[in-house]
Amino acid sequence: MNLIFLGPPGAGKGTLASMFSESNEIPHISTGDLFREAVQNKTELGNQVELIMAEGGLVPDTLTTEMVRERLQRSDCKNGYILDGFPRTIAQAEALIRISTVEAAVYFAVPDEDVIRRLSGRRVCARCKAVYHIRSLPPKQDGICDKCGEPLIIRDDDKPEAIKKRLDLYRQETAPLIEFYKKQNLLKEIDGTGSPESVYVRLNHVLDLET
Ligand code: AP5
Repeated sequence: MNLIFLGPPGAGKGTLASMFSESNEIPHISTGDLFREAVQNKTELGNQVELIMAEGGLVPDTLTTEMVRERLQRSDCKNGYILDGFPRTIAQAEALIRISTVEAAVYFAVPDEDVIRRLSGRRVCARCKAVYHIRSLPPKQDGICDKCGEPLIIRDDDKPEAIKKRLDLYRQETAPLIEFYKKQNLLKEIDGTGSPESVYVRLNHVLDLET
């Protein structure tokens, strides 16, 4: 199943993609994670995108699309994939049509107040990428990743100025994709509020899958 997860920053795309990927054995491809890995490894791509990301801006379409094109060619995508955070502009969505056939675009609808609460309490593991929240999904030991024991960090773009910019850019550049996929009869909208488990049940329901 070739899936896109759409929604504002902090909508829970990464959290739900990780849950769905584990139970359905298809890869969770997060363009944000791929860029963060490039920054961490100090690659040429990482140097190009580091400042853009820290300020909450968007990486140019050409760089992003090429990275996704290469990633989707890998053999683990042969039974499907979840694209989390891509496409994020109409130009990226049009490019994706030339790369792969999308079967559904799931839109997680979450109001701004929830988004801000979720992003300001998010903690991530820089090593294994596990995502936590200080209230809704705390680690067993404060500040330490349950999965690999590394200290948890706050993402640079989860600071208030960057959150505002990301939300503005989401409204201008990414929200028009909802209409784009609606016109193609691919849009599946779900209520993204409530616990991750309750959103997961809605996700499976909208995709006609058993939980
Ligand atoms: P990216 O990493 O994709 O960031 P994003 O889209 O802004 O999404 P987030 O990761 O912030 O949120 P999410 O929806 O995955 O929420 P999460 O599950 O973590 O991109 C980062 C940057 O990379 C961009 O700003 C840009 O610079 C660049 N980039 C990436 N893709 C690009 C592209 N295609 N084009 C150009 N540039 C690109 O959840 C958030 C928090 O809420 C967590 O703490 C979680 O535990 C908690 N939570 C989740 N679900 C629930 C729930 N149901 N109830 C309570 N808490 C919850």
